[in-house]
Amino acid sequence: MKIVCVAGARPNFVKIGPIVAEFRKAPDFFDITLVHTGQHYDQAMSGAFFDELGIPSPDVHLEVGSASHALQTAEIMKRFEPVLLERRPDFVLVVGDVNSTIACALTAAKLGIGVIHVEAGLRSFDREMPEEVNRVLTDHISDLLFVTEESGRRNLIHEGIAEERIHFVGNVMIDSLHRQMEAAAQSRVLERFGLAPGQYGLITLHRPSNVDEPEVFRGILEALRKISEELPLLFPMHPRTRNNVKVWQMDGFFARNGGEVGVQATEPLGYVDFLQLMRHARMVFTDSGGIQEETTVLGVPCMTLRLNTERPCTVEMGTNRIVGVCPEDIVAAAGEVLAGKGRTGGLPPLWDGKAAERIIEILKAEPQRHREHRKND
Ligand code: UD1
Repeated sequence: MKIVCVAGARPNFVKIGPIVAEFRKAPDFFDITLVHTGQHYDQAMSGAFFDELGIPSPDVHLEVGSASHALQTAEIMKRFEPVLLERRPDFVLVVGDVNSTIACALTAAKLGIGVIHVEAGLRSFDREMPEEVNRVLTDHISDLLFVTEESGRRNLIHEGIAEERIHFVGNVMIDSLHRQMEAAAQSRVLERFGLAPGQYGLITLHRPSNVDEPEVFRGILEALRKISEELPLLFPMHPRTRNNVKVWQMDGFFARNGGEVGVQATEPLGYVDFLQLMRHARMVFTDSGGIQEETTVLGVPCMTLRLNTERPCTVEMGTNRIVGVCPEDIVAAAGEVLAGKGRTGGLPPLWDGKAAERIIEILKAEPQRHREHRKND
């Protein structure tokens, strides 16, 4: 079975890593090509993840870089099409919900090539999120849909997707987490930032709805600065966020040379250091999707600074709380955790580090049937 696997942006790398590793265990069965679209390109946003997660160098690099949504999506499609025409795979496998995901899925679907979507069915029901548009469209042109949680299956069935094309396999992002736990334990990152286990908070923010809106962003930073008076906070900053801090001259929210009250900002960190920081944090503030899942598995209280989540099982079963973006609510939620009232939770079903194995077993089992779906629908 000839499969072209696609990765483009930081969260994609964490998801594609375990899948490619499993494919490589069955070279007689799978002929794999790994394509990097180049949506993320900095060493900190891309190269570091390939190195740490042991992902082989991409066979093809499309080098698209940053641009508006339309330009970036179009450019990926334009550069991806000749790769498919040359390789003629049976399937293109895409992960997650970034622009690279929809661009490559659509290119394949238009050429009559099967599409496999890993992490299908998640829905925030908020079409203002660019990722929500990517998710819905990708799912509807996919032939095989692998879901991470029960809500994914429900959403897809509700949208009219045939049940036999949906497979509940668990979460490949958690496969990566399991694989890197030991490496994380060796990390010296807490010492590097002068942090003690359980006595700091960790922040990530990069959603346009939070960091591209100066008033919302300012309110969140005010809340975080207030919390940092009681709990040291570390903020590894996404380039989009860093750019906006500069443009809107928000440096005053951050501690300058350590020691001072304030939020400690730093460059984006690699996977292993970030995992170690999450694992020992008293709480995590985030607007990321994947971090809601990782904190659930690590049992660390997660404050999601958004109005919704496409990953409801992290709230229903895990440690996640949808706090919103109102400064008073953020401060109050952190106060509850500091008072020992943080959420505890359990592990969602099949988040056991074996999701990629299940995907590969399903692909091996009935390759012919997967192809037939396409013709019959
Ligand atoms: C993208 C994804 C988002 C994902 C996030 C993870 C879409 C629509 N969004 O958002 O779902 O959660 O990645 O990080 O696909 N930049 C760099 N270096 C890089 C990459 C980006 O400096 O290696 C800067 C550029 O100024 C760029 C900006 O970051 O314009 C935003 O990058 P982009 O890929 O457009 O969106 P993200 O916000 O990263």
